Amino acid sequence: MREKIVAGNWKMNNDLAETEELLGKLKLQMVKDPEATVMVAPSFTNLYPTFQALKDTPVIVAAQNMHESEKGAFTGEVSAEMLKSVGVTTVILGHSERRAYFHETNELLAKKVQTAIDKEMTVIFCFGEELEDRKNDRHFDLVESQLKESLFNLPKSAWKNIILAYEPVWAIGTGETASPEQAQEMHKHIRTLLEKNIGKEVAENTSILYGGSVKPNNAKEIFAKEDVDGGLIGGASLNAVDFVEIVNSF
Ligand code: G3P
Repeated sequence: MREKIVAGNWKMNNDLAETEELLGKLKLQMVKDPEATVMVAPSFTNLYPTFQALKDTPVIVAAQNMHESEKGAFTGEVSAEMLKSVGVTTVILGHSERRAYFHETNELLAKKVQTAIDKEMTVIFCFGEELEDRKNDRHFDLVESQLKESLFNLPKSAWKNIILAYEPVWAIGTGETASPEQAQEMHKHIRTLLEKNIGKEVAENTSILYGGSVKPNNAKEIFAKEDVDGGLIGGASLNAVDFVEIVNSF
């Protein structure tokens, strides 16, 4: 049975006081044992306080990025070991905003993923097409190239540490959610690619999350789709009531 997961990507939001306030509300709102694994991804400065605040709960703390090197002269960057030293063993990699604003390529992301796997971390790997790709019917090929160039070199054993997050760029932060049918169609394509390139067991056991304007009023329909195993939530994760409603949408 694949793991159902709802992860909140806070992006560059919440200072320490706002983080503590949101976590307090989240702890009050959370049901005791939700069906889904719940994750929150605050900014680097809030990772340790968040880990401390949530350590007696089942909620997993994830980072939003990490550098591919062990350590060294990379001003402003954060390594896997630094994340693990504050209790964080899950990391989001390949988010479209990092691909767009920080020019992260499939090749660089392959290195980041390899480092995370070598450090026995869990990776939430993000990918997805631009609107132009979809309009030109290139979205299936684009997604295939993102997966092939960053992940398909991994051995089968690594896939227990990989969570996939399909995030059509045109749906991120726009309120323009992919329809449940569009999400299912792409998730099915992704699962077929996994079976063809890695194997049936990995295809059946890898969680594929949908991200892109998931809200309390659309989560249930999207999560009900056969190949959707949960969501990577941006804006709605900054509101405790909305985020918990999405968590409870299975
Ligand atoms: O990583 C999740 C994020 O990109 C989705 O953002 O605000 O459309 O839920 P949002």
